Amino acid sequence: MSADTAPTLQLTDLQYRIDRPLIDLPDWRLPRGEHCLVLGPSGSGKTTLLHLLAGLLRPHAGCVEVLGQDIGALPAGRRDAWRGRHVGIVFQRLHLIGALTVAQNLRLARSLADLPPDPVRERDVLEGLGLARLADALPARLSQGEAQRAAIARAVVNRPALILADEPTSALDDANCSRVAELLLEQAAACGASLLIATHDARIKELFLHHLDLNGDAA
Ligand SMILES: Nc1ncnc2c1ncn2[C@@H]1O[C@H](COP(=O)(O)OP(=O)(O)O)[C@@H](O)[C@H]1O
Ligand SMILES: [Mg+2]
Repeated sequence: MSADTAPTLQLTDLQYRIDRPLIDLPDWRLPRGEHCLVLGPSGSGKTTLLHLLAGLLRPHAGCVEVLGQDIGALPAGRRDAWRGRHVGIVFQRLHLIGALTVAQNLRLARSLADLPPDPVRERDVLEGLGLARLADALPARLSQGEAQRAAIARAVVNRPALILADEPTSALDDANCSRVAELLLEQAAACGASLLIATHDARIKELFLHHLDLNGDAA
């Protein structure tokens, strides 16, 4: 299947264990541009699954294909750039680079994906997320909400086909919970990307057609 027609995600008999079997998923696919929630209580393996989907961890059995590409099969030297080009990640702890400004964090995401600087795109993304006036600020100066939006900006600046977000709403009150979920959906739509959110937050369940329940069945 060519990269243009392949689903965003295809999982085949995916297994990962720690001191015990942690992830054991049936074959499952997420079509292009469709969104999904990964649900499960704390400790059920949601963050581990996101790391498997991003190729930051290798499965013990089975495989993960993103856009038809088994990331684990890429040579180590090409894997990071491939991920940087096609997958945007909003980590739970954000992981903005503290020594770089907001704009420089976006520039770094382009550089790590072997993409040239694109000041117009960088400015558009920051404007779209209400961060234009903070482009030259260091992450330590940002509020928690601004820092999260900066992490979202960094995740989408390369127009990824897959956006992964780890517990983006869990620490938020109801109003901000809806706002951030909608913001992520808007950004995914703007890129034509699939959005996959790992969460134990039941408040955003209705916004998503597909659920992958780590304690139960895929739908
Ligand atoms: N590197 C690791 N080594 C050993 N155990 C781990 C490691 N990473 C996570 N775990 C364990 O795996 C389980 C699932 O963790 P995690 O994927 O973070 O779940 P969730 O995101 O659903 O809370 C937890 O019991 C956690 O302690
Ligand atoms: Mg987690």
